[in-house]
Amino acid sequence: MGAVILGTGSCLPDRVLSNHDLEEIVETSDEWIRTRTGINTRRIAGKGEETYRLATVAAQRAMEMAGVIAEEIDLIIVATISSHMLMPSCACFVQKELGAVKAFAYDINAACSGFLFGIDIVDKYLRSDREKKILLIGAETLSSRTNWEDRNTCILFGDGAGAVVMEYRDEARGVVASNLCSDGNLWSLLCMHNAPSSNPDLSLADHPGTHILMEGREVFKYAVKAMEGAIVDLLSREKVDLDSIGLMIPHQANIRILNKLVSRLGIPPEKVFINVQKYGNTSAASIPIALDEANREGKLKADEFILVCSFGGGFTWGATLVRW
Ligand code: UT7
Repeated sequence: MGAVILGTGSCLPDRVLSNHDLEEIVETSDEWIRTRTGINTRRIAGKGEETYRLATVAAQRAMEMAGVIAEEIDLIIVATISSHMLMPSCACFVQKELGAVKAFAYDINAACSGFLFGIDIVDKYLRSDREKKILLIGAETLSSRTNWEDRNTCILFGDGAGAVVMEYRDEARGVVASNLCSDGNLWSLLCMHNAPSSNPDLSLADHPGTHILMEGREVFKYAVKAMEGAIVDLLSREKVDLDSIGLMIPHQANIRILNKLVSRLGIPPEKVFINVQKYGNTSAASIPIALDEANREGKLKADEFILVCSFGGGFTWGATLVRW
């Protein structure tokens, strides 16, 4: 039928940063963070835990589960907005670390929706070239791009990586369809600037720095409606009703966004996988980390529909249906 996920893996940095730790950094409280976001802890990368290194370990775990070795990988795609270098891509560093000598490699940027958009690329790629094995990774170290003096954002984000190995299988499982959307008009509500330009004609008069900037309340409102719309359209197009969904794996941004989405859709909360309390918002890494945890906990049942959805900077958002 299409692109099948053969194995999943994830990797989180060792260091745990709790809400109480954040009380020492900005004017906030454990109670405010827990009740407004559902986050208790997040992981923060240290020395030797650059984005590509987390991505490499996640990939190794996914390949081990899939029974695939590095030399068999044909393509490596990393979804990220926080690689340690702008060029070469994070994917090229992963290729080097793995010794995936046959693979070509590149990054994609769709912010928090990067992994979801990546699934669609891989699905379409595999439908036209069925012999390939592809590594798709979502990896971030947003701690390196966080303004640690801004309590509106620094409490939200965390670091980590998740990966999948995908292959075309002529079986009644795999990626069913995606419904992906963007609205560049809303870019300024959630953004991160590049380093100041060395071409004076292209530089901003008042460069805001290279940290994440966010109008949280606006993002919140838009995210719920956008994900709901994408899911409803996708399911109606595919003639799949919500009752047949085995598990929903949403982008893990904020428990209140997820609760609102779940209640508007009418999906039972026990069918929604949530780990935002442990890792915060890991952007493009959040869905593959959640997918790997759900998989290793035995929550993904053969033949069931998995519904994945995301929302992020761009704005970018969407929903994808996978038959496990
Ligand atoms: O991956 C997708 C990208 N991002 C998201 O999905 C995030 C979407 N937005 C959100 O999750 C929420 O909007 C936040 C968690 C960021 C903020 O929650 P909120 O309920 O929308 O709070 P708010 O921004 O409306 O702020 C309420 C108050 C403000 O104080 P005043 O003006 O009412 O006195 C803030 O200054 O809470 C204050 N505040 C804080 N207080 C303690 C903001 N951040 C903090 C903080 N600790 N960390």
